[in-house]
Amino acid sequence: ASQSLIKKLEDTIENFSDFPIPGIQFKDISPIFLEPKLYEEVIEDLVRFSKGKIDAVCGIESRGYLFGIAIAVALEVPFILIRKKGKLPPPVISEKYDLEYGTAEIETREGQIKPGQRILIHDDLLATGGTTEAAAKLVQKQGAKVSQFSFLIALKELKGEQKLQRFDAELYHILE
Ligand code: PRP
Ligand code: MG
Repeated sequence: ASQSLIKKLEDTIENFSDFPIPGIQFKDISPIFLEPKLYEEVIEDLVRFSKGKIDAVCGIESRGYLFGIAIAVALEVPFILIRKKGKLPPPVISEKYDLEYGTAEIETREGQIKPGQRILIHDDLLATGGTTEAAAKLVQKQGAKVSQFSFLIALKELKGEQKLQRFDAELYHILE
């Protein structure tokens, strides 16, 4: 990404310490959506990374939808929803993952991801990587290839990137 886009995003995203629980540094991306021109620049940047390299985009509920669907529309490829458990009608493919406390589960409609497709998994934020890793497993269960990961922000200190290495996919993020 350009230095000017990085700078604009850093000035726009708001940081909150100890939210929603002590020890967590929360990044609120909602001010980006108050500035349509900035949003457009973000999409252009993410689209440039994936252009010509993917057959479909998988977006992770909920903040992964905010940019993911715009990427898919710009590239004229399908967008597939990866949702939190219990939101999609059967048959679904599920994958459990660990949270700070307990576990969570994500799902996708069976058959929407096609065997052999090159998939971009997009989310707003890479933290521990647990969520994205589970999404990548879902993609593989459907016989597709995780070709790319993209994020608005990847938090280096939580080592999420290491967790994703074994998928042998390209990884891109605008901020860290
Ligand atoms: C946040 C964020 C990522 C995930 C990253 O989502 O949007 O999806 O956590 O964390 P991880 O890398 O440690 O797995 P959250 O589950 O808070 O839900 P939301 O997107 O619906 O707000
Ligand atoms: Mg999320």
